[in-house]
Amino acid sequence: MKICQISDTHFGSESDFNRKLLYSLLDRINNSGFSLLIHSGDVTQSGRKDEYIEARRFFKKIKIPHIVIPGNHDARNGGLKLFEDHIGPVNGYKEIDDGIIIYVNSAIADSDEGRVGMVKFDLIKDILQKYTDAGLKVVLIHHHIIPIPMAGRERNVLSNAGDILDLLIKGDVDLVLSGHRHYPNVHKVENTLFVNAGTTSSVKTRYGDVNSYNVIEIGDREQSFTTVRVDGRKSERKYSRKRNRVFYDFGSKIFRVAHLSNTFISNDRSFLRKHFKNAIMTINRLEPDLIVHCGGIVREGITQDYELAVRLFSTVDGPILFTPAGRDLNYLGYHLFPKYMDSFDQKYKTEDVVFQGVSSSQYDSPVGIVGDTQRKALFKKLHESSEGIKAIFLHHNLIPIPHSREKGLLEDSGDLLREVVDAEIDLVLTGTSSHPYAAKVGKTVIVNANSTSSVYQRSVMGNSFNLIDIYEDALAVYEVNSLWGSRRLLGIWNRNG
Ligand SMILES: [Fe+2]
Ligand SMILES: [Fe+2]
Repeated sequence: MKICQISDTHFGSESDFNRKLLYSLLDRINNSGFSLLIHSGDVTQSGRKDEYIEARRFFKKIKIPHIVIPGNHDARNGGLKLFEDHIGPVNGYKEIDDGIIIYVNSAIADSDEGRVGMVKFDLIKDILQKYTDAGLKVVLIHHHIIPIPMAGRERNVLSNAGDILDLLIKGDVDLVLSGHRHYPNVHKVENTLFVNAGTTSSVKTRYGDVNSYNVIEIGDREQSFTTVRVDGRKSERKYSRKRNRVFYDFGSKIFRVAHLSNTFISNDRSFLRKHFKNAIMTINRLEPDLIVHCGGIVREGITQDYELAVRLFSTVDGPILFTPAGRDLNYLGYHLFPKYMDSFDQKYKTEDVVFQGVSSSQYDSPVGIVGDTQRKALFKKLHESSEGIKAIFLHHNLIPIPHSREKGLLEDSGDLLREVVDAEIDLVLTGTSSHPYAAKVGKTVIVNANSTSSVYQRSVMGNSFNLIDIYEDALAVYEVNSLWGSRRLLGIWNRNG
């Protein structure tokens, strides 16, 4: 199957919309052997009737099957109703060959934010269940789920992106097509390709880029993603469609990490001291090579909380690294963290592994940012390190986390994620949103930790930390209950696949 994806056409006034360019693509769209055309939303600039009438005229000239979904711009000025009148239904699904394409509206009237509410969430789930054995599963959604590089401050990701991400991965979806950020990008998360389109005809391109469309070719064994830019440049990425095997030969064990977050140590009742003490006892028994704490060490950045933290962590056997969350830096925390916990960017390095901390927090703010300067320095350090396992750790998350409204993402998560995946970093540890989660993006396993010892936690198992075992050929992540030490597998991945 060969799919053409156009997006963010923004039909409207001459100043924003390149009409001539879009119509010049018609011939290519109709005569390049595409089985399907997808428009991933923002058909119009402001959801106005005249814009929809013109868009409808354009779609009438397309001679191949096509599916069009609305974006946030289409939902302006009561536009969603006009979308249904002029373009078609905003939600639904379509069988194509032995595959299924599900499309959902994520736009909210007069808002740039995206949301897939519970009814639509269940709709996607039901269809995926019904079509479990379909040869190809595609989901179309305007707002992006995985952060996009080169698109400026990360915003308007779906508010429930983590839950949707989890649903699409578990539903074994092959391909997710989105638009919205006007920059083409692709990431493979587990077995699912998350594809973003640039804008096909809006003047609002990013970083001096030009208009583009995507071509996605899906074969039995391989799929390719090509961005075709209107100046003739093409960029292509190829991915195998081979399924991961369930069982791997692990090879010998190289390294074991205990990964904690949001201990929120204080004299407050929300700090569960018994959970903390038991967790440390379990960690000591498990004998990890390294313990990494991804922030939220203390409840507040005050002396008495830090003094208590130092006392409680003194019972840990083995090396431990910390990176701060915003809370660790509030009040006097910005001075107390380096005094009690050592430097901001902590590091552990042997011949076999390097774990590099990246401080993403600022005092008095939950917002995370790494920034260009720190990102460049980070990769310079990592590239200088010898071959072996490369890991980074920070407080804020790089991919959306289920069971939370998306607010813990780094502002520049799209840029950092792209660089992490392209550099084939083995492991990223994060600690926001207090929900244990792990997924593989490209060759990088990204793991988020729950709160180890605070009442504010989001695992049905209760407070927990993660245990990560790195073998020559596999990487396994477990969630370990803080109080009892019982374990649950979060995932096993082939390190060479
Ligand atoms: Fe757009
Ligand atoms: Fe949009």
